Amino acid sequence: MIESWILNELFQDLTDPFLIMALVLVVIHFGTPLAYYWYAKTQWLPKPWNIRVDGNYRPKVTVIVPTYNEAGFIEKKLDNVYQQDYPRDKVEVIVVDSASNDGTPEKVKQWSMKHPDFHVKLVQEPVRRGMAHALRTGFSYVKGDVVVITDADAIWEDPDTLKEVVKWLSCKGVGAVSCIKVPYRSKGFEETYRQYYNVLRVAESRAWSTPIFHGELSAFKKEFLEKVGGFPLGVGSAESLAAMKIAALGYRAITPDTITVSELIPQSNYVWWRIRRAQHLILHLVKTLRYLKHYNSSFKQVVLMEAYFHLINSWLFITGAVLLLYATLALRSILSSIFLALGLVLLPIRSYRVWVTNQLFLVVAQLRNLWRKELVWSKQRKL
Ligand code: GDD
Ligand code: MN
Repeated sequence: MIESWILNELFQDLTDPFLIMALVLVVIHFGTPLAYYWYAKTQWLPKPWNIRVDGNYRPKVTVIVPTYNEAGFIEKKLDNVYQQDYPRDKVEVIVVDSASNDGTPEKVKQWSMKHPDFHVKLVQEPVRRGMAHALRTGFSYVKGDVVVITDADAIWEDPDTLKEVVKWLSCKGVGAVSCIKVPYRSKGFEETYRQYYNVLRVAESRAWSTPIFHGELSAFKKEFLEKVGGFPLGVGSAESLAAMKIAALGYRAITPDTITVSELIPQSNYVWWRIRRAQHLILHLVKTLRYLKHYNSSFKQVVLMEAYFHLINSWLFITGAVLLLYATLALRSILSSIFLALGLVLLPIRSYRVWVTNQLFLVVAQLRNLWRKELVWSKQRKL
């Protein structure tokens, strides 16, 4: 008797339009990225690069390091570039400092006095106008054929990093190269997120190119950067947009899995850091859509999918959850409450939790972009 009543209730719930709508949204929300990930991993990742490299190519390289209050890191950063196994007379470092008040420029001057065999130039901007502006300023001083940008808090663990970068750039068809990222000493949340994204970046690169670059290491052929007008302003991640402008000229923008960079993770305010980065990524993808018509059909699909994941997909999840909540509370739908409970019960599974949290970051980031684009951001303590 009771069983048939429950079955009857559940059956009635199943025809509830709110529930049906919610389930459709949630299935699309999880289904598309899973399908994309699966496709990228099985179809693109095993593909050959189709890139002809010259391991002996040794162009003159200019490394730009933008700094704002990096006194705690800048010497280690310069040591790190100095320790690269690359002909020293072919490396030039430009530190572009924007009105730091913690003694960063003095540290750069001291370091360069102690290393007369290394060419370090300090450019000082009198006013802080953000990282993109600093890169733009730095670019006007570049003498090398290859321009590499790198954050002060990023570590190139492998002394062959520069060699590896120019190796990929030795191919005529490649215009820009970035890295995969691993969190320095920090496991957990950031690591799970990175593992998923690193696979996508490399798989997309093997297919043709990836639309997302990293400030921890992004390298460009100078002549192409010149053609696209240098680093763009008005975005948080100028390196990614510059790469996408170069891709619009027909050159590949790739992240090889042989270039790995460690990055420091903020010890506090991690959530705001992630939201700010999501804001930059969203802004970048919106701007990249303008170049869509210049891309080949496979790269068009990649850009459209990434734009969908960062701009639309998270809203499906939020809307689905709200509909389920409404059906549970207002319509007393048992089935809806079961699905809601399931969504909560799965939270201890790390990859699911990381995914869900990221959807919330994306939604907040989109809303925040409406009034504050965070092109000049506050400095965070990192370890
Ligand atoms: N000159 C200058 N002027 N440098 C700046 C400024 C500025 O106004 N703001 C930040 N920087 C420097 C920092 O000192 C650091 O070397 C680098 O730019 C990156 O800044 P972080 O504060 O470390 O930010 P992040 O690690 O979250 O930035 C990452 O994400 C951005 C996209 O959201 C990096 O990968 C960036 O390159 C990327 O654009
Ligand atoms: Mn950083």
